[in-house]
Amino acid sequence: MKRIGIYGATGNVGLEAIESLLNHQWFEISHLYASERSAGKRYMDACPLDVSHLPRSISEIVVEPTDMKNIPTDIDIAFFALAEDIAKEYERKYAPEFAKSLAVITTSSALRMDPRIPLIITEVNADHARLSEYNKIKIFPQCNCTAVPLTMALKPLQYTVGIEMVFMDSYQSVSGAGAGAVRNWAVERAKSELGKMPEPFPSGIGENPEVVYEGNVRPIGERDSRDEEKKVVEETLKMLGEYKDGKIVPADFQLDCMCNRVPTLRGHFEHIRVKPKKSCTAEDILSIYQEFNERSKELYGGLPSSPEQALVILDRQPQVRYDVSIGKGMSTVIGEIEIKDGWIRLRALSDNLRKGAAKGSVQVMEYLLREGYI
Ligand SMILES: NC(=O)c1ccc[n+]([C@@H]2O[C@H](COP(=O)([O-])OP(=O)(O)OC[C@H]3O[C@@H](n4cnc5c(N)ncnc54)[C@H](OP(=O)(O)O)[C@@H]3O)[C@@H](O)[C@H]2O)c1
Repeated sequence: MKRIGIYGATGNVGLEAIESLLNHQWFEISHLYASERSAGKRYMDACPLDVSHLPRSISEIVVEPTDMKNIPTDIDIAFFALAEDIAKEYERKYAPEFAKSLAVITTSSALRMDPRIPLIITEVNADHARLSEYNKIKIFPQCNCTAVPLTMALKPLQYTVGIEMVFMDSYQSVSGAGAGAVRNWAVERAKSELGKMPEPFPSGIGENPEVVYEGNVRPIGERDSRDEEKKVVEETLKMLGEYKDGKIVPADFQLDCMCNRVPTLRGHFEHIRVKPKKSCTAEDILSIYQEFNERSKELYGGLPSSPEQALVILDRQPQVRYDVSIGKGMSTVIGEIEIKDGWIRLRALSDNLRKGAAKGSVQVMEYLLREGYI
């Protein structure tokens, strides 16, 4: 059994990491870490989310303070799910130190675009783990959760019909903005009166008082700092790139996206338009996706966190509310595939907290362990 220490354990992703590791055949949770606010409290008292379903063996663990200067000697894997701003500061500075004696898994963006470090979605580019072996750095970041449905939908098309150009619009759930955002949204819902427009709160309420989730569709980031969109583009091209002589050569098709936050709890939904290099029919795409599923099952079906089907193709509209938990949150759900004016059009959905963060990372850990990378 590999022993895991979870950092940022009291957040949305931290809780999902715990759930993904409960009763795991290969991994066990040894320590839970969070900020000074949570340190010294039992997990059930420190975590702002509903944890009533967790066994007492977990919910009664006393949360420890995060001390990046002290690298634990009694764990094998450090699982970082730290708040983004803290992660950028801590992980860039300390993760390479941790990685000298431990494997590091992280869900933050801090190290994703480091050219020495692979960015892996198991079914898409598990072979990029060779980059870690080449550079002898055992740091494995999870990609942006919005890049997951996009990359999963594009990968099977890349070497079949070919990709010339892609446009994507996202409709991202509130849980993607962290446990604080989920808490704020609940307060907003409780305060909003039936039939009335929700008002922005006066400052002082919640962590982001200028952001209203309830009744809102909000572009993510300001006009001149569209970080989310930049991350989705760069990371998707990196993951769809090729490992060659100790480097990842990114994919070179044109990709643009527009990212929005919408008032749904869980699941990132996307409209994707692909200009293929070869003309094709919707039936062609369907069989390409079916072949991808068969290959994924053959290569990764044996990993405990892999879903029955990597892609679930619906012959009806995909809907966030009903379909986000298909494949226990590990499948990418695709629907309404059609060809219009030479473009492939489809809708894709995946669970931002499971496949898009914690459980997707656990699946990568399983692959890395099975193949001897960690
Ligand atoms: N949410 C998603 O859909 C998603 C998907 C993919 C990747 N990610 C990435 O995963 C990471 C975690 O996201 P999240 O949504 O789980 O965030 P979150 O709910 O805001 O949780 C943040 C965690 O960081 C801890 N933390 C905050 N300040 C700290 C400090 N100064 N020192 C130590 N720990 C501190 C918090 O502890 P306290 O509770 O004690 O404050 C909490 O455990 C982020 O980097 C995010 O970008 C998120």
